[in-house]
Amino acid sequence: YGTQSVNNHGHLTIGGVDTVDLANMYGTPLLVYDIALFRERAKAFKETFKKAGINAQVAYASKAFSSIAIYEVAKQMDLSLDVVSGGELFTAVAADFPREKIHFHGNNKSYTELQFAFDEGIGCIVVDNFLEIEMVKEISEARQEKMNVLLRVTPGVNASTHDYITTGQEDSKFGFDLKNGQADDAFLKLYNHPYINLLGMHCHIGSQIFETDAFRFAAVALMNKMVDWREKFKFICSVLNLGGGFGIRYTVEDTPLHPSAYVEEMEKVVLEMTRTHNYPVPEIWIEPGRSLVGDAGTTLYTAGAMKEVPGIRTYVAVDGGMSDNIRPALYEAKYTAVTANRMVDPHSDKVTIAGKCCESGDKLIEDAYIAEPVEGDIIAIFCTGAYTYSMASNYNRLPKPAIVFCEDGQHQLVVRRETYEDIIRLDVPLQKTEHGVS
Ligand code: LLP
Repeated sequence: YGTQSVNNHGHLTIGGVDTVDLANMYGTPLLVYDIALFRERAKAFKETFKKAGINAQVAYASKAFSSIAIYEVAKQMDLSLDVVSGGELFTAVAADFPREKIHFHGNNKSYTELQFAFDEGIGCIVVDNFLEIEMVKEISEARQEKMNVLLRVTPGVNASTHDYITTGQEDSKFGFDLKNGQADDAFLKLYNHPYINLLGMHCHIGSQIFETDAFRFAAVALMNKMVDWREKFKFICSVLNLGGGFGIRYTVEDTPLHPSAYVEEMEKVVLEMTRTHNYPVPEIWIEPGRSLVGDAGTTLYTAGAMKEVPGIRTYVAVDGGMSDNIRPALYEAKYTAVTANRMVDPHSDKVTIAGKCCESGDKLIEDAYIAEPVEGDIIAIFCTGAYTYSMASNYNRLPKPAIVFCEDGQHQLVVRRETYEDIIRLDVPLQKTEHGVS
């Protein structure tokens, strides 16, 4: 992927930097990002829209990986930013991300979080439910400040991906249903409000999706509703946000299209439908997360204990696990690994790469084909840039890994490794140790 290569020591390099050197310098587990690849992906999305002459915003769905430094890179690439919580918004503010390009998502934003969004004058709130509509109205009226709003709808699309990460089906906790009149009710509550500037509609059908059909169905469903609102209410949507969800290649079995292929499909549908219905072409907004950062990330681990279960398998345990990548345990997600310090050695029979957490399910890769492992090997697991650090925990009180950005032969620490001090920083010892809490 991207700038990965093998140098004359037989070591894996990323962005022109030797990963074995990185492991020695920063320790393991270490999450290494190939920043050139992030930039390439961002450019591909943006240029596809430009080529078609469509006004667009490409918002980085930063739940995939949120940190000040990645927001700074997103800013350099002129991306917009999708945040889903006060915490992500706070990080964006710390990175001095242009406020007008921040979009605020979430199915249960608190009053305080919404106030924060108004304080910062962000670009848009993606309204998800009736309670939120009331809160946004109340805050905007009290402040006499206008807010841009998108209405999140569920188009009734069942994209084929893991159940936990589909969101576009009718039975979903997100958004307003298009079919049963909910979306219309929500529209009427926002439309013509003096402080609400309703830009249009949003949907996100799920994540790690390969087939363009799902995106096409969603776009058609939303466009039909747009046409309906023009007829019923003389309202013209200026923005159509079709979310993210573009799949990436974790293993050879995955068959994603190039990022631009998904965008081209959306463009086709929108241009066709606007022509048929004589509707002004809306801006198209998208929100890729995984497809911007997923394959740009590689986690380096050090191999430790081995265990052979005769006739069945060999386990090789690494110094991280479900605490820094919960995806295999949570979604049975599959990954590919190599031995970064011995890239040219022949691959052995399959081994199971296990984590060090106290859970049998803490296996990063069930069947990995890597060089016969020895203690001290640097095992690199690819495609760990999305939903790993952002979903990391301190289970078993393991410190979270450090993160390094690499580009053009340079490397830079962007998240420092957690220390044991960090681990206990929120703990408050008992006040009266003799009598417990009484
Ligand atoms: N927009 C919205 C409204 C979303 O909810 C999401 C992801 C995205 C955009 C970005 O989707 P992406 O392009 O990254 O697929 N933890 C799961 C994925 C959860 C996705 C949540 N929403 C995983 O590790 O696979």
